[in-house]
Amino acid sequence: MNRKQFISRLGTLGAAIVAVPLATGYAASTATSSSSSPKKIRAGIIGCGSVSGVYLPHLAKCRYADVVSLCDIKPERAERRAREFNVKNHYPNIDAMLAGVPFDLLVNLTDMQAHGQLNRRALEAGKHVWSEKPMANTYDEGRELLDFAIRRGVRLWGAPAVVESPQFSFMAKQIDEGKLGRIAAAHAHYGHQGPHWSAFFYEKDGGSLPDLGVYNISTLTGLFGPVKSLVAMTNTVTPERKIDDRGVIRVEAEDNAMIIMAHEKNSVLSHIQCGFNYFDPYGHAGTGQERPTVSIVGSEGNMHLIGYDWMPFGVDIATVANERTQRFATDSQGFKWEEGASAVCECLATGKEPKINAEHALHVLEIIEATRRSQAEGRRIQLKSTFNF
Ligand SMILES: NC(=O)c1ccc[n+]([C@@H]2O[C@H](COP(=O)([O-])OP(=O)(O)OC[C@H]3O[C@@H](n4cnc5c(N)ncnc54)[C@H](O)[C@@H]3O)[C@@H](O)[C@H]2O)c1
Repeated sequence: MNRKQFISRLGTLGAAIVAVPLATGYAASTATSSSSSPKKIRAGIIGCGSVSGVYLPHLAKCRYADVVSLCDIKPERAERRAREFNVKNHYPNIDAMLAGVPFDLLVNLTDMQAHGQLNRRALEAGKHVWSEKPMANTYDEGRELLDFAIRRGVRLWGAPAVVESPQFSFMAKQIDEGKLGRIAAAHAHYGHQGPHWSAFFYEKDGGSLPDLGVYNISTLTGLFGPVKSLVAMTNTVTPERKIDDRGVIRVEAEDNAMIIMAHEKNSVLSHIQCGFNYFDPYGHAGTGQERPTVSIVGSEGNMHLIGYDWMPFGVDIATVANERTQRFATDSQGFKWEEGASAVCECLATGKEPKINAEHALHVLEIIEATRRSQAEGRRIQLKSTFNF
């Protein structure tokens, strides 16, 4: 299976899902308009903390989105964002939000542990859902949600959006075209010193894997396909953390993880490391970083992604035919890691499928779960899920 087929299969898979009739009332409730002003998807955002400050400006600029409501169990946060972004309606919990002003798409930006139950509530109410990662706490819960969404005729998608970057497409094309020869191995890493604003990152079902490793897992499975088995180790390096509104807490989740993955359809072994104890002199965005965070080696070349996969700056390549390393794909072409919710609004409004797909996100979730099991049981774990590649 080559890269071109992968990219087109993602489209095919998405199209198969979108072909399911939309929820009753959806078409009628979606604001239709003249040919010059596009259909707008009414979005409701739940979770008005840190990341909402990045999503809201992107959605505000998206011609297919209209943010009509905000919600947070800390109501002052929803109120503040409503003032900041001129959103008329804000609510203190999901019940009030679902009973309030109608919307088409729930954008879930809450604590990781709350995603599964809130996504379920929205799907049951006939809403489409864009969920920050992870889309559920376990693979089985995520599978159930996706199957339910398909039966209900609504869509469910999960972050991250790394497969949408031009650098991802460029790397995929090089692999496709055999520029690196037979690929043997790949490595990716991502870490920082850990969030200080919320405790959930360090509580059960939190950790560096669903918060950070998820990007690299999505990139490497996106490039090399589903994983058939893995071995992993995780631990907790910093047993206590100081959290802004809580003081010192005990860390329950891993903050340091390493995974070796065997991909199903070829002989690639890939490795990922992530953690909340990584000092980066270039700061969180990695601006000015010249060293790679994703490296791929093959029999006739090697390729390195400069910057993080969620904010890439370019791709370095050296091959047998051209041993001097050259940099390519330095243009971001407007790609932003926070673009997922806007991309799915465009999809719902126009039918244009994003490359992000829910089956891929579910497979990534199973990898995260399998990593924890490999550590707990001290053995190699076989995966059951897959996605079209
Ligand atoms: N902060 C970032 O830079 C960043 C970047 C990418 C992805 N993410 C992801 O975004 C999500 C949120 O992260 P964050 O950093 O914004 O956290 P945060 O703690 O700053 O914000 C989460 C908000 O959700 C609210 N919330 C929790 N449970 C709720 C519920 N049941 N109903 C309504 N509101 C509820 C909290 O009160 C809080 O205001 C996580 O999945 C995280 O992994 C964060």
